[in-house]
Amino acid sequence: MFVETARPIILTGDRTTGPLHLGHYAGSLRNRVALQHTHRQFVLLADAQALTDNIDNPEKVSRNVMEVALDYLAVGIDPKETTICVQSALPALAELTQLYLNFVSVSRLERNPTIKDEIQMRGFERDIPAGFLCYPVAQAADITAFKATVVPVGLDQSPMIEQTNEIVRRINRQIGRELLLEAKPLIPSTGRLPGVDGKTKMSKSQGNAISLSATPNEIRAFVNRMYTDPNHLRASDPGIIEGNVVFTYLDAFDTDRAVVDELKERYRRGGLGDVTVKRRLEDVLQELLKPIRERRAAVSNDLGYVLDVLRSGTSKARAITQSTFDELRDGLGLFSLGRITGDRPAF
Ligand code: TRP
Repeated sequence: MFVETARPIILTGDRTTGPLHLGHYAGSLRNRVALQHTHRQFVLLADAQALTDNIDNPEKVSRNVMEVALDYLAVGIDPKETTICVQSALPALAELTQLYLNFVSVSRLERNPTIKDEIQMRGFERDIPAGFLCYPVAQAADITAFKATVVPVGLDQSPMIEQTNEIVRRINRQIGRELLLEAKPLIPSTGRLPGVDGKTKMSKSQGNAISLSATPNEIRAFVNRMYTDPNHLRASDPGIIEGNVVFTYLDAFDTDRAVVDELKERYRRGGLGDVTVKRRLEDVLQELLKPIRERRAAVSNDLGYVLDVLRSGTSKARAITQSTFDELRDGLGLFSLGRITGDRPAF
């Protein structure tokens, strides 16, 4: 019985703006599949956060809740081990966010390096939606509501964890005890996966990504388009590994280190063509994505089951997040009416 509570708690999530891609897999999904057996894991379909920069297209955000859920099940997130829940159906997260906003300054929000990058990428300038600027605070609510101490995310999300921990310390100081817990990001050792062009990280909006449901032909075309060493014109020329996307991917996905090391060595020396390395990578990716694609297709045929998974996960998450909000309300000494008519039912 105590085993359950002794497991460290994980909370992580994804914006529901489109199906997930290989960058998500390397950055976080792979870790989640591995960690679900040793941790108590919660995964959030972050539709409310997705609205912060997609308010002109709520239908897209809503439609992709199921798509991302399918990706989760396809990669092997097991609903018996992991609680999958829908963010917008957890009102306590919004209530916590509202409280937490009082513990952060606007200038601190504007200093967040990921937010800065995203503002620039989206061309918001001063017209940034307030909800977008504040989403790191909502993310702090997500993490702390579940009392999570481990957050498996990509490198670009680590400023969110720093922001979370600052809020945690301020609130605990205000309350006078360690009610909320600080969290640690769990960042994959492979680092950030570049897109096919090698310029920026993989991202659907940059058109350089490959989705987890890609067909064999799409996988092949994706590998063929990959940026290599532009000066490696003939197979006999010595080539450069650094910044060579094909090798970055082999490092991230090929489990046979010895083969990869040997390919690198031959490529550097000269005598190994891009085509050979690309075929190796294609094989690795075809093998990785085939079972994911097949499982996705199978689960897509039973959307009733997926909905049941989300219903029961969200229901469990409601109780947990609500109880954190209640503790905080008591801790801060907010006025309480006790139970009144019209209280929300448990689900
Ligand atoms: N910001 C994350 C992303 O862009 C999604 C997310 C929402 C999240 N809430 C979270 C990640 C809580 C970790 C923890 O994909």
